[in-house]
Amino acid sequence: MVSYVVYGRGCFNQLDEILAPQRKGKSPMIFLVDHYFEQKPLVARIPLRDHDKIIFADVSHEPKTKQVDALAQALKQEFGDVSGVIGIGGGSVMDLSKAVSLMMTNPGSSADYQGWDLVKYPGVYKAGIPTLSGTGAEVSRTTVLTGPTRKLGMNSDFTPFDQILLDPELIANVPANQRFYTGMDCYIHCIESLTGTFLNEFSKSYGEKALSLCQEVFLGDGQWGPEQDDKLMMASYAGGMSIAYSQVGVAHAVSYGLGYLLGTHHGIGNCIVFDKLEDYYPQGVREFKQMVEKNGIEIPQQITRGLSEEQFDSMINVSLGMKPLWENALGPDWEKKMTREKLRTLYGKL
Ligand SMILES: NC(=O)c1ccc[n+]([C@@H]2O[C@H](COP(=O)([O-])OP(=O)(O)OC[C@H]3O[C@@H](n4cnc5c(N)ncnc54)[C@H](O)[C@@H]3O)[C@@H](O)[C@H]2O)c1
Ligand SMILES: [Fe+2]
Repeated sequence: MVSYVVYGRGCFNQLDEILAPQRKGKSPMIFLVDHYFEQKPLVARIPLRDHDKIIFADVSHEPKTKQVDALAQALKQEFGDVSGVIGIGGGSVMDLSKAVSLMMTNPGSSADYQGWDLVKYPGVYKAGIPTLSGTGAEVSRTTVLTGPTRKLGMNSDFTPFDQILLDPELIANVPANQRFYTGMDCYIHCIESLTGTFLNEFSKSYGEKALSLCQEVFLGDGQWGPEQDDKLMMASYAGGMSIAYSQVGVAHAVSYGLGYLLGTHHGIGNCIVFDKLEDYYPQGVREFKQMVEKNGIEIPQQITRGLSEEQFDSMINVSLGMKPLWENALGPDWEKKMTREKLRTLYGKL
């Protein structure tokens, strides 16, 4: 779990104080900042000291193992050691900073650690400051990376942040579409966790709270303001806590295939898949469609049209590789229930 959490409007101003005890001599703090904030006022509020460095991360594409390796390599060359890596951004920057922190101390390539419990050593100090809410990446024990052969996280006890700073002011200006897609990631986490076979009281307690917060903000009176931002930020946190002790399910397993082959982003990819999952999550999909309509969002259709059978095969391979997700969704005999043919039909509908 994340060791330290601060929450509240304006708590970004405490960052200098929070980082002070983590500084190791002259070794710098590295701020990995979402490229969206280049030229934005937030950058001037980052508490730089001595050799600290801001690196703007281009997240037009979701994080890749190559990008993580290059960033860690460059930091080792320039500084030898760093005091910490501080991620400021959406889920992509959260994941990038977790992975770079781990690759400052673990040998080889981040691709070697895609899987469960493969990371050998704790990384350098890492803190996460989300500027988009929904993924739960701020609390999870994974960092999702696209590698040479798969899209899979570095899932390990060393992966969670040492500190997170949840300041709802930072998500105030997210465009409505992006807010919805990333917010629905949280909604889908709740449905997949609460209907999954891995469910337990820990996951249920967090999942139910996150679900009701999602319902309040996305099925409310249509107004969006500070109150909704406060709620969505806590929904993301609780939704992430819910899957920390269970798993996600069908939407995520299928969406990973889209992400791997087509580069479809996580939030929108989950929406594209979830929209067609009424056989698996009837009540959740019905409510999701209400949210789509109420918020005036369009879910892209027919994005797999015209793909070759080879391409469908490659998405199916990625998806069926996510065994814990399928097992959570369909039970221990999931392989009998989700055949390649069935998955081919589902991909054809997207
Ligand atoms: N580690 C985990 O547990 C976990 C869970 C779910 C998803 N993920 C990962 O999270 C990523 C998706 O994250 P996301 O949905 O937060 O989107 P994102 O981080 O990919 O960002 C989407 C877009 O929003 C922009 N953006 C960020 N903050 C903004 C702000 N305040 N205002 C306006 N624009 C802003 C970014 O620059 C980017 O263009 C994927 O890489 C996915 O694999 C990780
Ligand atoms: Fe997700």
